[in-house]
Amino acid sequence: MPVFRHKKELNSLLQEKKSKDLTIGLVPTMGALHQGHLSLVQKAIAENNTVVVSVFVNPTQFDNESDLDQYPRNLDADVALLHDISENIIVFAPSREAIYSGEIKSKAYNFEGLEKVMEGTFRSGHFDGVATIVELLFKAVQPDRAYFGEKDFQQLQIIKRLVNQKNIPVEIIPCPILREKNGLAMSSRNERLPKSVRNDAGFIYEVLQTAKTKFGTKSAKNIKDWVADQFDKSKLFKLEYFEIADVETLTPMLKKQKHQKYRAFIAVYANDIRLIDNIALN
Ligand code: PAF
Repeated sequence: MPVFRHKKELNSLLQEKKSKDLTIGLVPTMGALHQGHLSLVQKAIAENNTVVVSVFVNPTQFDNESDLDQYPRNLDADVALLHDISENIIVFAPSREAIYSGEIKSKAYNFEGLEKVMEGTFRSGHFDGVATIVELLFKAVQPDRAYFGEKDFQQLQIIKRLVNQKNIPVEIIPCPILREKNGLAMSSRNERLPKSVRNDAGFIYEVLQTAKTKFGTKSAKNIKDWVADQFDKSKLFKLEYFEIADVETLTPMLKKQKHQKYRAFIAVYANDIRLIDNIALN
């Protein structure tokens, strides 16, 4: 399986494929691949002739130096997992200099408020960093389709807006959240949880599921208070936010509108490890 470090080599192989009218899928990742990522890759393989999986821990989207330092990295293990899926995968694992070619710095974006709520409130500059690297990856790969997980639902909506604003000719494909046996949303950060905490972290999804059952009859305020109460009682998990928001605008729901779709979003700390999750409510 080809593993490229530089845009130039990647580009010449992709040009050859494109000249034969072969379609290219892109799965952008920060590595430490788990079944959640692999489900995106499998979908991409089913829908494209060639799939580029990028593996790059993007420094500009971290607002916390120690989170960046401790982010798990293991390219050899990632390549081995991908190797077992298909021979039509190309890995693109650039260095910081190779992908940023110049200053390692975010551009400033305006996503009309999508970037200001939830993750945007708590992770300053995060979405500028995400949009910068995703734009660079789109430029380097020029994929027909790109695959993003719904676990990072706010990110997904922002990428769709980015593509729209910049007229980038790529189809964004959302992919459902994969969960561990206890319901914990799969994430590379789960590896950093002590085993017992990881076992108990199914609690986060249980809370989301109960919030969903309450959604039919209770107000947003009532549900938010109930969730806050559950976390006040928890010794292991600290709630950063719980929000019920419109899926398109991501604005908090004040009063339920009949034809709108809503999701509940949550961010939780287990020690110093930050976990996010979300669930469709209707
Ligand atoms: O979702 C992620 O893993 C990252 O935010 C992404 C899209 C690969 C950009 O670094």
